[in-house]
Formats: sequence, structure tokens, C-alpha cells
Amino acid sequence: MKQVNTRYITCAGDAAGREALKEAAGLLRSGALVAFPTETVYGLGANIFKEEALERIFEVKGRPQDNPLIVHLPDIQAVKEVAGDLPREAQLLAERFWPGPLTLVLKKKEKVPARVSCGLPTVAVRVPSHPMARELLVEAGVPVAAPSANISGSPSPTRAEHVWKDLSGKIEAVVDGGSCEIGLESTVLDLTRSPPVLLRPGGITVEQVEECLGIKVVISGSEKNKAPASPGVKYRHYSPEAPLYLFVGPGGTVEEKMREHLHYWLNKGYQAGIICSEENPLQYAEAVVEKLGSRRDHKQMAATLYNSLRNMEARGVEIILVEGIPEEGLGLALMNRLKKASKEIIRGK
Ligand code: TXA
Ligand code: MG
Repeated sequence: MKQVNTRYITCAGDAAGREALKEAAGLLRSGALVAFPTETVYGLGANIFKEEALERIFEVKGRPQDNPLIVHLPDIQAVKEVAGDLPREAQLLAERFWPGPLTLVLKKKEKVPARVSCGLPTVAVRVPSHPMARELLVEAGVPVAAPSANISGSPSPTRAEHVWKDLSGKIEAVVDGGSCEIGLESTVLDLTRSPPVLLRPGGITVEQVEECLGIKVVISGSEKNKAPASPGVKYRHYSPEAPLYLFVGPGGTVEEKMREHLHYWLNKGYQAGIICSEENPLQYAEAVVEKLGSRRDHKQMAATLYNSLRNMEARGVEIILVEGIPEEGLGLALMNRLKKASKEIIRGK
């Protein structure tokens, strides 16, 4: 793989900051790989009209060749350039949730290279709300393909330092925009099928989507619906290196099970890590503990999850035990990532 010098770009809201962002936009336009902050997670950006840059995205991430990319655009006008006429549902959702953490799968225009959509007749599009992402997209003036800026399979990056750890020496620049507000990827909704199919739960909840459209959507991969999922969902995802065990069930029983398992691993001499809510009453003096926030505040929990998983890794944890939460609202997206990351799901009584 080509080794490159990676520039670390910080952009305060002053004139020098704006200049730095313009420079990053120029790099992006000319075919360089530039990681940048969005409100969900950091993205690894490439101009969709630069074939070599698209190829390098797959190479530097170790991304499976058949997993298509989301195209990022500054506004709905620009979306129409790549996706053609928008169906009524797209108009409604765009008006309500863009800019923001919602990705729509639409019919693609011919000018979108096959490499972006991996040969599919569709294209996934999103208008991010992060001010730096918006400014970068406006300045670049080209559609930008951007998967999460991590090595495929590892937790998505929610801070510039996460990107740096995974990709420095492999990409031209990282734009530092601090911590991502949402901390989980966007919701991916396929509007080329009727009713629409939720391919990936994320920052906008199913309840919000259904309320906006006034209809029920199909949840891909759920037991009742066997609708084919997004190409990306068949791969192992979001995982730290240490095996992760997810604990679910009624309150009280989960803590008990976690305690049992913790003792088992500690007795075997493992360095164990616990990720749980603030309310979890058990004391885990011998373990590395990361509290995600209150069970009642899924937003806070979502915002800290990936950072906590990465902290576990950095602190040499060999086994991770995680307390699950109810699958409502943002809890659906949070649990989706945890289930994919887990080696086993363990039920309380
Ligand atoms: O929040 C996000 O969406 C972040 C930020 C950077 O915008 N991006 C992100 O990209 O999560 P990535 O590549 O990690 O995930 C994209 C997902 C994958 O599951 C992929 O299979 C799906 O979107 N996808 C992309 N294009 C598609 C298409 N044409 N049809 C179906 N699924 C598609
Ligand atoms: Mg990803």
C-alpha cells in the first residue's frame, strides 16, 4: 500500500481555520483521501469522480469489494444531481431530517460510478449536519463518497484520534472536529422498495421515520421480515479485538449474570472490562469499567459507546461484558451495533 504523509488539520472558527478547511476541500477535490467529522461518526472522504481515490478507500479500510459507499452532499439540489427525481417519501424525509443522520437509498443516475454503488442500480445519499462537513462539501463542490473512517470491522471513529490510530500514513489528511455528537452511524432507509425498508437503524429512529411518512416501514433482518439487507450488514462490524459478551433481560437478573461471568473470567486470570449504565449497582473493583451514562438517556449512551470500546482495547482488556438496553428509540441502533459486535448474547433469567 502507498505510504503517505498524513496532515492533521485543525480548524478553529477564525480566518486561519476557514483557510485550512478550504485547503482540505481542495485536496478532496483533487483526488486525495480526507477524513472529516460528521454528526454521526468520522467519514473517509473521496471525490466520486476520481477512480483511484475510490479504489484506495477500499484498500486502506480493508473494505469488502461488494460493500457500497454513501455519497455525501451539501443540499437536496446536489442530491438530485446524483439520484434524479426524488420520490414523495424522499421529499418528506429530506424536509424533516436533512441535514442530519439519515441516509436514503434511491435510484442512481448514470454518472455515479459503479465503484460507488458496487454495481447496484441504486445510490445511498446523505446530507450531513456537522458545520465542518457542510463547509467542506460546499467548498469541494463535488459529491463525496464517505464510509466511516476506520479499518473495516473495528469500532467506527467518533474522534480524530481514532481516525489517526487506524489510518495515519495511509490517507492524505484528517480534519479534527472534536467528538461526534451522535456517535452512531446514520439510519439507512431503502426507498426503492415499497414499503420502504430500514437497512440499518441509526441516528434517526424508526419511530421518527414512520411518524413522518405516516406508514410502517419494513425492518430488514427482523424475524418477521426476510427482506434482503444492505450488502454491508453481512460483515462482522463495530467490533473491538477482545471478545464481547452482551447481557440482556429484566433488570436485576442482568447484573447477576454479569457478576457470575465476571468472576469466571477473573478466576481464569483474564483482564476483564465492563461497559454498563450509571444505574448498574454492582461493584467491579477488579475490572476496567466504562459507564455509558444513564439508562434513561440513550443519546448519551450512543455518543460514548464507540469511544468506550476503543478505550477497552487501549487498556489491554481481554474480555468485554456489556449491559444491554431496551430496543426502543436510539436503543434499537445501539443494540444493533452491540449485537453485531458480540460473540454471544447472554440472557438473564
Ligand atoms: O453515518 C454514516 O452513515 C457514516 C458517516 C461518515 O456519514 N458513514 C457510514 O458509512 O457509516 P459506511 O460505509 O460505514 O456504511 C454504509 C452503509 C453500509 O451498510 C452499506 O452497505 C450501505 O450503507 N449502503 C451504501 N450504499 C448502498 C446501496 N446503494 N444500497 C444499499 N445499501 C447501501
Ligand atoms: Mg462503517
